[in-house]
Amino acid sequence: MRKKIVAGNWKMNLNSEAANLLLQELITYSKNGGLETANQIVKILFPPYLYIQSLSALAATSGISIGAQNCSDKEFGAFTGEVSASMIASCGAKYCLVGHSERRSYFGETDHTLALKVEQCLKNNLIPIFCIGETLNERNSNKHFAIIEHQINHGLFHLAEQQFKNVVIAYEPVWAIGTGVTASADQAQEMHAFIRTIILKKYGPSAASATSILYGGSCNSKNAKELFSCPDIDGGLIGGASLKAEDFISIIKSF
Ligand code: PGA
Repeated sequence: MRKKIVAGNWKMNLNSEAANLLLQELITYSKNGGLETANQIVKILFPPYLYIQSLSALAATSGISIGAQNCSDKEFGAFTGEVSASMIASCGAKYCLVGHSERRSYFGETDHTLALKVEQCLKNNLIPIFCIGETLNERNSNKHFAIIEHQINHGLFHLAEQQFKNVVIAYEPVWAIGTGVTASADQAQEMHAFIRTIILKKYGPSAASATSILYGGSCNSKNAKELFSCPDIDGGLIGGASLKAEDFISIIKSF
């Protein structure tokens, strides 16, 4: 059975003290039995790079994993300001976001760069959560399926099946990210089923049914239950609502 995952993308929020406090609150809640029914759900937090090492240590026995929001497409060397996948892994992270729409649009990350980042992650035993999504314009002009297929084709389909099995996909329509507008459960399910079909055509039924596909974009404690009950939605990548322990926990409990 494919994994159910709830991941919190903290983006460029929270100073060190606030980040520690938030994780501590989640751990306390977990230990006090608040998440006892959620043991089988993979829980991941994506803090800024700076906190990965200390938060990984703090989360060590809590059942919560830590990931990075980005990584370099290069292995090492003279690339001032960059952070490599190997550095991230050496600080205790297990996951890495690749191709978040904010990286694609504000930092000009291309399909080619993202394909290299996915490779760097896999080489260093980080599970990439590969983000894809269409803009409102693209959806309104009925190009959304073609855009998603293109992003997957160019970012992931250079991988061998064995490598692909270590990848998680997050469908995040750009028009839903941070806007308070969520894709309807029908819209999200339709796209997730489409993504699974593309995987089926490329890698066959075993890879298609084993790949976790998360929904992201204004997912919150009110709409998570309906979204997570869709057959092809395996969890969520949560931005704003992951910054409050209570909201994030209630999303985890929405399965
Ligand atoms: P949001 O962000 O939940 O605040 O819309 C999701 C994301 O960008 O991963």
